[in-house]
Amino acid sequence: MARQSWGSRIGVILAVAGSAVGLGNFLRFPVQAAGNGGGAYMIPYFISLLVLGIPLMWVEWTIGRYGGLFGHGTAPGIFHSLWEKNRFIKYFGVIGIFGPLVIFIYYVYIESWLLGYAWFSLTGAYRGTDQAGLQAFLAGYQGLQPHPSFHGIGWAYLFFLITFGINMWVLSRGIVKGIEWLNLWALPLLLIFAVILTIRVLTLGAPNPAHPDWTTSAGLGFLWNPDFSALRDAKVWLAAAGQVLFTLSVGIGVILTYASYLTREKDVALSGLTAVATNEFAEVILGGSIAIPIAFAFFGPQQIVSVAKSGAFNLGFVSMPLIFQQISGGNLFAFLWFALLFLAGLTSSISLLQPAIAFMEDEFRLPRWQVGLLVGLIALAATQPVIFFLGKGVLDELDFWGGTFCLVLFAAVEVILFGWIFGIDRAWEEIHHGADLRIPKIYKFILKYVTPLFTLTILTTWFWQDGLPVILMKNVLAANKPYVFATRLGLTALFLLLCYLVHIVWKRRPAGKGRLHAA
Ligand code: PFF
Repeated sequence: MARQSWGSRIGVILAVAGSAVGLGNFLRFPVQAAGNGGGAYMIPYFISLLVLGIPLMWVEWTIGRYGGLFGHGTAPGIFHSLWEKNRFIKYFGVIGIFGPLVIFIYYVYIESWLLGYAWFSLTGAYRGTDQAGLQAFLAGYQGLQPHPSFHGIGWAYLFFLITFGINMWVLSRGIVKGIEWLNLWALPLLLIFAVILTIRVLTLGAPNPAHPDWTTSAGLGFLWNPDFSALRDAKVWLAAAGQVLFTLSVGIGVILTYASYLTREKDVALSGLTAVATNEFAEVILGGSIAIPIAFAFFGPQQIVSVAKSGAFNLGFVSMPLIFQQISGGNLFAFLWFALLFLAGLTSSISLLQPAIAFMEDEFRLPRWQVGLLVGLIALAATQPVIFFLGKGVLDELDFWGGTFCLVLFAAVEVILFGWIFGIDRAWEEIHHGADLRIPKIYKFILKYVTPLFTLTILTTWFWQDGLPVILMKNVLAANKPYVFATRLGLTALFLLLCYLVHIVWKRRPAGKGRLHAA
């Protein structure tokens, strides 16, 4: 069975950019920036982008394309092709299937709320509700509290099933007809929605006549005025580095899977950089100009601090609908906001499930429908605890292991493997094979020394600062501990299952990196 490959260059770039542009850009980023020193946060952010994000993007495009030549689309096989002699490295690669799967499990559920809210914005279900009412509406929707508009978790479950179904449907159509097709229209469309919202926000002026100084541009000032004292806090640096990895979808195994569907002559240097640029435009320019500035204009300089502190969900699902009710054409803008986020989420979530699918397809040679069914059922089962135990800390636990810990660990492993084991000279040559861009020489140094050192520093600092308390569940409510513990057991079982699958595959296969496919 021949491996699939991308239909066009723009297709693969948009698919990678589609994976990168997600809820992280429009919700996670502004909340983080506002809470971590505003403009000063951008210093560690841009440094991380230059020495962590961009190099890792190149690493993943390059090793993905390389592994694809041997018929491998996921990290166990790709790592093994980079370090043939080592018998254990493929088990590190398991993180590259496990991590995305863990993120998918909660990400897809949040994505489904956005579909629900896009619908409610059109039907006016929450119209005329104040802040407390919107909070109750959200808690009712999530099944955390009784609410007259909802019968338990019914609506949330319905929208979840629809969202999950759309994800599976796109993935079942394969790389070109599914993933590429979706990204070709959904990414431009969502960017258009975001530009419309940005223009609306920036031209709003001061919407509250009692406070002519509460303008959206003052809101931009609130977001971007630097508080340099934040730079002395290691937490701010960790947050910025983590955000760069998360928003670019690098350091977890997803981009290398997408890149494995490239043929050998295809450029990776310029394409990778283009995907980064698209994501950063969507994050810093668009993501930074919508939610926080408009919330500032409505809530003012005092209350915005608590809005930003109350987190991304509160900003997205309570403050934003509240604000939209107060501007003309608000229902339409609220719909655009939720549709934008839903599409951004969709193009990201499909990329999170593709490694598991690629693994079963490539390594077990199963037909796509069987793989879809199998992976779909496992993912569906794994999502249930997030839905039914939402208030018990399950989601945060998954976000921590998948969206923080695995991200940094995998990033460290892949960059060391590339720069040190595969060897920086070969690595440099491989990046430039078929490249439409010559990368500045300094990056050879960065790739070999700076990026590995940076990832290892993050890992150790993190361990000192948060690691032990997190592992010992110090900050978990006593009532939630059994749920968090059960989540950990489930995650361990999933990880071991994947290790076992890798074990079987390699037992069956003769030693070596695999068959070289026609390049
Ligand atoms: N980059 C996505 C976002 O910003 O929302 C999230 C994400 C997708 C993270 C895919 C990791 C990943 F592999």
